Amino acid sequence: MIPPATSTVQPVVDVHLGPGDLAAALRADILSGLTSEPKELQPKWLYDERGSELFDQITRLEEYYPTEAEREILSTNAATIVAAADADTIVELGAGTGDKTRALLDAARAHGRLERFIPFDVSEEFLRSTATTLAELYPGLLVHGVVGDFDRHLDRIPTGGRRLVVFLGGTIGNYAPGPRGELLRRIAAGMAPGDHFLLGTDLVKDPARLELAYDDPVGVTAAFTKNVLAVLNRELDADFELDRFDAVATWDATQEWVDLGLRSRVDQRVRVDALGLDVDFDAGEFMRTEVSAKFRIEEFTAELAAAGLDVEHWFTDRAGDFSVSLSVRRADAAR
Ligand code: AVJ
Repeated sequence: MIPPATSTVQPVVDVHLGPGDLAAALRADILSGLTSEPKELQPKWLYDERGSELFDQITRLEEYYPTEAEREILSTNAATIVAAADADTIVELGAGTGDKTRALLDAARAHGRLERFIPFDVSEEFLRSTATTLAELYPGLLVHGVVGDFDRHLDRIPTGGRRLVVFLGGTIGNYAPGPRGELLRRIAAGMAPGDHFLLGTDLVKDPARLELAYDDPVGVTAAFTKNVLAVLNRELDADFELDRFDAVATWDATQEWVDLGLRSRVDQRVRVDALGLDVDFDAGEFMRTEVSAKFRIEEFTAELAAAGLDVEHWFTDRAGDFSVSLSVRRADAAR
């Protein structure tokens, strides 16, 4: 029997990334990061259960403006966005809890063409609960989740329909310019001419405000950054002592990004048993855990264009702190 369009449709979830793949990727990444010069850890390892909880706390800090600013932009402009995109399918990259997308889904449903929502996330657990919640909240909506890694599985996203691909939160800022251009090209390659891309990007602003947003007085961000060491202790049998590192966040005016990481307080040797590795840190040595790039509208319009994406709208919050661009895939974009 075909269910009536008003009842909940059971979500489908495709899993391209199992716990075994994640464990293998962690080992490979950390081995390369701890043996390179300078040492560096990839931001994706910040988000275990505790890290995700701490990040959630960050988004509610007074000093951390991006989340609220983006929410303001989306709620103010959702109707304009869905009318311009006129999509039957919304794809969300890094969906998390799907929280940010609710304003868009509401507007898209009101617009009357929405059929399918495709959340894509690295965490199966998050994705399954998001898929179930949204399927229940939006009767008749086909929810097709995909568990994967942005860097490897974008081509597994189901095709078809007129799409709006959304990538929110300013996560694109975690990418340095080279990999960022490549990511944008891969996203564009998965879109048909005329499909739309909605992207959240944080803007360059007063360095003092940026440093406060990434080095909050309560120390939530510091705890978030240090937590990666607890992840390595647990997952790789390492013996990092968290008190022997300081979390630091500095604005790099040349790169126009906030540089976040850990600075060793002392000369020390750390054992990472699962990798059979001893790692030496000098007192004062800095190990990056992430960059958070900030953007300028004009320059970033050119970056999107280079990936085959033409901006139709730039939205900002009233304070002008954060931006969301809506671009369309050009017909002649290289695939
Ligand atoms: C999740 C990458 C968007 O860069 O603002 C916040 C991560 N790190 N505070 C950001 C983060 C420290 C966040 N993104």
